[in-house]
Amino acid sequence: MRFSLLLPTILIAACSSVAMDTPPPSTVFAADQPTVLITGANRGLGLEFARQYAARGWNVLSSCRNPDQAAALQMLAAEFPRVAIDRLDITSDADVQAIAGKYADQPIDVLLNNAGIYGELDEQSLGNFDFDELKRVLDVNAIGSLRMAEAFTSHVQRSQQKKIISLGGGMGTPGIGRLVRGHYFFKMSKAAHISAVVSLQADLKDSGILVTMISPGRVDTQMLEDSGWSGKSISAAESASLVISMIEGLEPKMGGRLITYNGIILPW
Ligand SMILES: NC(=O)c1ccc[n+]([C@@H]2O[C@H](COP(=O)([O-])OP(=O)(O)OC[C@H]3O[C@@H](n4cnc5c(N)ncnc54)[C@H](OP(=O)(O)O)[C@@H]3O)[C@@H](O)[C@H]2O)c1
Repeated sequence: MRFSLLLPTILIAACSSVAMDTPPPSTVFAADQPTVLITGANRGLGLEFARQYAARGWNVLSSCRNPDQAAALQMLAAEFPRVAIDRLDITSDADVQAIAGKYADQPIDVLLNNAGIYGELDEQSLGNFDFDELKRVLDVNAIGSLRMAEAFTSHVQRSQQKKIISLGGGMGTPGIGRLVRGHYFFKMSKAAHISAVVSLQADLKDSGILVTMISPGRVDTQMLEDSGWSGKSISAAESASLVISMIEGLEPKMGGRLITYNGIILPW
């Protein structure tokens, strides 16, 4: 049955540093609404996804590393009772297993693997490699997203829509990656995760789950700044809206593929 009543105490535990004089929001999921789980929902695209899915009436399992510092997300949860906030670092097995267990009975229609990092630019240029930084970037972008997919496969399988979506981009493909010098670690991490998406789709095909990587475009967030890009970009609100429409209109042929927010399948 698609229903959960999350008592205020759970939210208090999740957001342990929220001032106690602030009334804790209570989260009530609607049994007849779809559910999305979003990682890295405290800022950038993740926050926008949370806002837009909440406005559509979805149950929103928003997660982030530091809920007590996620003021905008807390305001969203105060406004929309179907928005839950959980502390989740995707590089932590313990965190991921705890949230998977907490929501064991909750079907999840869309797992949105949004959390990501770019890595320090100067440490990923030839001649100046810092391999500890490479491990950190891989740990989040490639391993963390795969860890989430494995932990939540059964939740997604029990849902109506059955979608596992990771955010990525053309930089991880050989075709586009070769046009831009440097940026090794970010490119490598997204390429590794595309490879995981391909394998996940093959393994999960019979269960009806669609696994896809979507490129959100160049989006005006902290990550774009971290990448050193100073050209054109679109807002997080615009990009999230396009990506959500893309997720809604996914076709079976897009499973195991990297597609752009406007539906172009990128060669891989
Ligand atoms: N912006 C673009 O142009 C662009 C282009 C292509 C793909 N993307 C992809 O879009 C996704 C969202 O990026 P964005 O542009 O919104 O970047 P952003 O503003 O930098 O946000 C990144 C989010 O990931 C979270 N995060 C980082 N490490 C985490 C971890 N270990 N566990 C959980 N959360 C973690 C961050 O949380 P903290 O606040 O705690 O650090 C933050 O919420 C990324 O996967 C990115 O690769 C973005």
